Amino acid sequence: MKLCMIGTGYVGLVSGVCFADLGNDVICVDKDISKINLLKKGKVPIYEPGLSELVIKNYKNKRLSFSSDLKKSIIESDIIFICVGTPTKKGGSSADLRQIYKVSKEISSSINKFKIIITKSTVPVTTGDEIEKILSKKNKKKKFSVVSNPEFLREGEAIRDFIYPDRVVIGTNDKKTGKILKSLYSPLISKGASYLQTSRRAAELIKYASNAFLATKITFINEIANLCEKTGINVEDISIGMGLDKRIGSRFLRAGPAYGGSCFPKDTKAIISTADKFKTNLSVIKSVIKSNENRSKILLDRIYQILNKKIKNKKIAFLGVTFKANTDDMRDSSSLKMIPWLSKKGAIITYFDPTGYKDEFSSLKNVTNKTTIKEAVQGSNLVVIHTEWNDFKSINFKSLVNGKKFIIFDMRNIYSSSKIKDQGFKYYSVGK
Ligand code: UGA
Repeated sequence: MKLCMIGTGYVGLVSGVCFADLGNDVICVDKDISKINLLKKGKVPIYEPGLSELVIKNYKNKRLSFSSDLKKSIIESDIIFICVGTPTKKGGSSADLRQIYKVSKEISSSINKFKIIITKSTVPVTTGDEIEKILSKKNKKKKFSVVSNPEFLREGEAIRDFIYPDRVVIGTNDKKTGKILKSLYSPLISKGASYLQTSRRAAELIKYASNAFLATKITFINEIANLCEKTGINVEDISIGMGLDKRIGSRFLRAGPAYGGSCFPKDTKAIISTADKFKTNLSVIKSVIKSNENRSKILLDRIYQILNKKIKNKKIAFLGVTFKANTDDMRDSSSLKMIPWLSKKGAIITYFDPTGYKDEFSSLKNVTNKTTIKEAVQGSNLVVIHTEWNDFKSINFKSLVNGKKFIIFDMRNIYSSSKIKDQGFKYYSVGK
């Protein structure tokens, strides 16, 4: 069986490369010719640990190929994964499905034999039905099956998440298709992944409901962290205590800045929009979105208090600006709210991120990128640990002080407050 991945973003590229590594014949297609040319040279346009090595290995052994010829790639393939972007509509909250439908039209005119067409992109409930309608127009005698197979990869951990998923969800009512896809995923199922076959609509909703639930967990613990700060309790004790209950589970209970990235903010808005369409009120998720939007304001207010309500001319260093560690992704990172606000209030900001300079701050007054932690923090009044990169986990702060000691605000609770305080630094964290 030949596989075709349409779209070489996170989802398409990681899944395509991993399927090839499992022994399949995979062609990755993208309309962006420069991207395809880069990939053919073994250069990966996104930052994802381990991905580049797998691209080179599988391209060399010819299980993986790259193309910008969509029609030819579809004709040659048996299983087609649609992996194009579904961003939030400009000025709205629903998912923009234009790329999905454009690709579906292209597929509809290239169905030369039985094909399985799969949405791996995150798509709202009923998108599969719409794709099926588009395909049926030109293919009256049905020679295709439209399936939802959501992905649950995290940026920075994407390869591990692909190889060792908790579950593989296949949304189809067609027995033959289900059998083929179960066999495609059998190497992962035999390593322990649960296999769940549902209706297509259910699979579409499982993805949104999962992301919305994880976002809820994070927002929940962030609000509990606010209460902990007022009551002298350590939020980490609460996370452990709650997490030990198997019904709750310990993961995604780390308090910190607002959740960000390309998925949770987008998908929580999109599920609300779907629910509105079906006249259903998802009040919990609505509150989550509101609370998360307010999170950056709360942390900025803490900075304001820490600096004795004087931000003008204060030197503030940000360690890490991406939305989480092990990615260069800035989408919806809370630093995009915090740094502009501080700059507007007259702060002088330096930042260091292991993934380097960020264009997003280029037009801001007094915001400078530094290429080492030392350069970023020296002479600062306040050092904000914004992202939990390993690079920031064992800093010898004493060796970085040049003159007066800076204050440390650890938004990821990386350090033990007593150890840092013993070194003579004023130290603040989250939820303690
Ligand atoms: C998320 C999901 O975790 C994946 O399962 C899903 O496949 C993906 O979205 C997607 O829909 O494509 P990702 O956005 O890469 O993955 O990042 P996460 O690791 O989930 O982190 C999201 C945000 O939550 C980050 O800002 C992170 O710092 C924050 N977070 C996470 C916390 O604040 N606390 C936690 O305990 C965990």
